[in-house]
Amino acid sequence: MNDKESVAEHAAKQVADGMLVGLGTGSTANCFIEALARRSRDQGLKITTVASSAVSALKAQQLGLTVLDFEQVSHVNVYVDGADEVSPELTLLKGQGADLVREKLLATASEQFLVLVEPGKLVERIGQHFAIPIEIMPFAWQLVKKQLESIGGRGYLRQNADKNAVAISAHGSLIADIRFDPSIDIRTLNDTLNSIPGIVEHGIFYALATTVLIGVNGQVQERQASSL
Ligand code: 5RP
Repeated sequence: MNDKESVAEHAAKQVADGMLVGLGTGSTANCFIEALARRSRDQGLKITTVASSAVSALKAQQLGLTVLDFEQVSHVNVYVDGADEVSPELTLLKGQGADLVREKLLATASEQFLVLVEPGKLVERIGQHFAIPIEIMPFAWQLVKKQLESIGGRGYLRQNADKNAVAISAHGSLIADIRFDPSIDIRTLNDTLNSIPGIVEHGIFYALATTVLIGVNGQVQERQASSL
């Protein structure tokens, strides 16, 4: 079992009978969906799920899990997903996929948000490896770009996989990948991005993770937000 699989197994064991589970998106989230489906089948648990993307919903359904529509859900017990970066204070960077809106809705709605990573995702500061993904209403992108530049942001609209057009998020937004000065305070940046009209969502998940599980050589290390 590799580290992604062992951390996914560990997280699946924390799901109890009757829970509504939020499913993330990405390769780590896929390992969790597989582990959850196995646990549900082997132990006869009654679990319902809600997915942060069409891809994850399809995978969960194919593995026999019950997947609710977002519109049916007002409360989630536990949301389990990967991340691109995790800071020492457990702020996350997410959104290298294009499903940020649902991911942040689940992270915010859930009683517990378990984040599954490998050590390479741990960083000193958010933005160390990746630009910050920012979803923008298509008609507003020039105005938002100007606002972002006024706070030192520099970057580009994301291209699609074929590099012949801009990428469109699952929510129908454009995605700008923006870098800021490394010294910028992440809480201030989070608040600022939340306040710019035309920004639909962004990849900083500030004070949302409850637990980060780190897979290291077959072992799982746990960091709790409350213990910081
Ligand atoms: C998608 C995400 C993913 O959780 C993040 O990109 C990590 O993916 P992976 O588990 O494949 O490394 O935020 O929007």
